[in-house]
Amino acid sequence: MESIQNQVAIVTGGCSGIGFAVATAFADEGAQVAILDHDAKGIEQARSELGDQATFHQTDIASESSVQEAVAAVISKHGQIDIVVNAAGITGKTGAPIVDIELADFRKVYEVNLQGSFLIAKTVLPYMVERNYGRVLLVASIAGKEGNAGMASYSATKAGVIGLAKSIGKEYAETGVTINSLAPAVVKTPIHDTIPEEQIDYMTSKIPMQRCGTLPEIVAAIRFIVSPENSFTTGFCYDLSGGRATY
Ligand SMILES: NC(=O)c1ccc[n+]([C@@H]2O[C@H](COP(=O)([O-])OP(=O)(O)OC[C@H]3O[C@@H](n4cnc5c(N)ncnc54)[C@H](O)[C@@H]3O)[C@@H](O)[C@H]2O)c1
Repeated sequence: MESIQNQVAIVTGGCSGIGFAVATAFADEGAQVAILDHDAKGIEQARSELGDQATFHQTDIASESSVQEAVAAVISKHGQIDIVVNAAGITGKTGAPIVDIELADFRKVYEVNLQGSFLIAKTVLPYMVERNYGRVLLVASIAGKEGNAGMASYSATKAGVIGLAKSIGKEYAETGVTINSLAPAVVKTPIHDTIPEEQIDYMTSKIPMQRCGTLPEIVAAIRFIVSPENSFTTGFCYDLSGGRATY
């Protein structure tokens, strides 16, 4: 596969789980990685592991000014953005039916998952279009494709992320910039600390392969999706679900 050495890659939610694994793999390949995450402790931990292989920007993906500030800092340092992997995300309350979910909880999940995807895409796209090149990947979820009972806020906002990528993929189809989403099933990461065990069992039981995905599998899929040679697919929702979704 064509190298991404010296490409500039923004990874949101890059201090933990999927984002951290992606940021590490890209940095090891020689990409200039910028991690945008709101978790100060997570940033310190990631910095201790990645050192100067990445830059770190304490960013709230749900805040327009915070996203604009971080993207401006990346542009000021590197002058360009080639790749964005938006992995920042939260589940909110899960393991509960809609009647037990407070509006404030739904709103928070919406702001991080969907508004955050909207803001990062809207902010980086002009810089990519200027150079007629870019790869944007919005990490959605199988919950957005299938709908998981007990996860109304999460499922609804991830469905929104899939719709967002479909829409803007078409808007920018002639620019050299691709925008896709990804729908992983269960991958063991710290996000599971916020989900009741029974909810995780429910999600895992729906995977025909009867196992969770692994971080190396998800990194390999993401690496392909944002690669230079993946140039004829945009607005698409990639599957990574062990057979749960076959469409
Ligand atoms: N792990 C899974 O099973 C799974 C499955 C499908 C989709 N996903 C999605 O993959 C993405 C990464 O999840 P993960 O499993 O690595 O979870 P994680 O909790 O390990 O990582 C999420 C990261 O997002 C950051 N974050 C949360 N809110 C933020 C905000 N407001 N601004 C900036 N950063 C913020 C966190 O600090 C954390 O570093 C999420 O969008 C998640 O919904 C995960």
